[in-house]
Amino acid sequence: MIHDLYELQVKAITRETDDCVSVTLDVPQELKEVFKYQQGQYLTFEKKFDGNAEPIRRSYSLCSAPNENIWKVAVKEVHNGVFSNYVNKELKVGDKLMVLPPDGRFLTKLDSTHKKQYVFFAAGSGITPVISILKEILAVEKQSDILLFYGSQKTDQIIFLEELMALKNLHPAQLSLHFLLTREEMEEPMFNGRITKYKLLSFARYLFNVDEVDEYFMCGPETMLLELRSALIELGVDAKKIHLELFGVQIQKPKPQIELKAGHEICKVKMTLDGRTFEYPLHFNTDSILDSALKQGAHLPFACKGGVCCTCKTKLISGQVQMAVNYGLEPEEIKNGYILSCQSFPTSEQVEVNFDV
Ligand SMILES: Cc1cc2nc3c(=O)[nH]c(=O)nc-3n(C[C@H](O)[C@H](O)[C@H](O)COP(=O)(O)OP(=O)(O)OC[C@H]3O[C@@H](n4cnc5c(N)ncnc54)[C@H](O)[C@@H]3O)c2cc1C
Ligand code: FES
Repeated sequence: MIHDLYELQVKAITRETDDCVSVTLDVPQELKEVFKYQQGQYLTFEKKFDGNAEPIRRSYSLCSAPNENIWKVAVKEVHNGVFSNYVNKELKVGDKLMVLPPDGRFLTKLDSTHKKQYVFFAAGSGITPVISILKEILAVEKQSDILLFYGSQKTDQIIFLEELMALKNLHPAQLSLHFLLTREEMEEPMFNGRITKYKLLSFARYLFNVDEVDEYFMCGPETMLLELRSALIELGVDAKKIHLELFGVQIQKPKPQIELKAGHEICKVKMTLDGRTFEYPLHFNTDSILDSALKQGAHLPFACKGGVCCTCKTKLISGQVQMAVNYGLEPEEIKNGYILSCQSFPTSEQVEVNFDV
């Protein structure tokens, strides 16, 4: 089941840069089917740290590709970050980690007959799902072209530099790499600094033609993604061609609040999960649907709790909710009644959700 955690052993740890390690997991034969993944998907880890009442969950994109038959993630240290520091400083080969099966939708269907042009934008650890997709395209679609724009601070902080250069040597006609650095001078001014709207306009003028690109993939800080996405849309690119993967949300949005009426302070939540239906009361203006159900002991799927990953997606069968943020659901899914339970707060006195559809 996708909601179940499995214990996997750490097979290898490789220091990629000063502040980033990659971790290869040993997936035993009997779990290979459960952990089967598509390029660009992520794994979610759960760990309880001393002093914390609850275990925490963190997601990490697979930087390996399905055709490699390995399961590898790369974790970049975040200042004061609980899980990323643990992985970078304490995790050892042979240790066991609790892991949820792969999930995620930062991908496109590949086919050996495709003759497409893909453009990727990545910054920092945002390279992880990108290199996975890129390796799978190179393995499956021999006639497709790939352009990568990848921003880092300095040369020695370019995660997977050697692997990218090796891929370029193997596929010189298919793969074009463009590195941008913020703390080191590049010969070509266009490649100095962060990837911005202004830079994208230069790239679109000199290095690719927006009318010829089939799909765009971007992964990096929220501000970069939103800026590049709106620049592409201004250039006339159909939003459906743009795939975004957000690793975290910088600006926390407040929870939606409703005006309470005397005697109407509680919403009756009806929930179906794994074939079982149950009900419980939820006070308005307190917990999200996800948090309230977790407190009831329900075994609900979640990862980021930030409206990003969509792991907690559920269908609203009846009643009304308000979502604080939504960075993951497509307009079509919202039209079809799907909500992110981690971001949804009831606004009606009865709400029914179903996690099984
Ligand atoms: C779908 C998905 C895929 C992801 N893939 C990767 C990946 O491949 N590699 C990777 O390194 N990370 C990835 N992340 C981010 C990762 O899940 C964690 O958020 C990150 O490692 C920080 O966790 P932490 O426990 O160390 O920090 P926390 O203890 O949660 O946070 C500590 C502090 O750092 C800030 N912070 C949290 N996350 C970030 C961030 N990403 N950048 C800057 N500041 C931050 C917080 O606001 C807080 O102040 C991914 C996230 C998602 C949702
Ligand atoms: S848990 Fe990630 S969007 Fe809800």
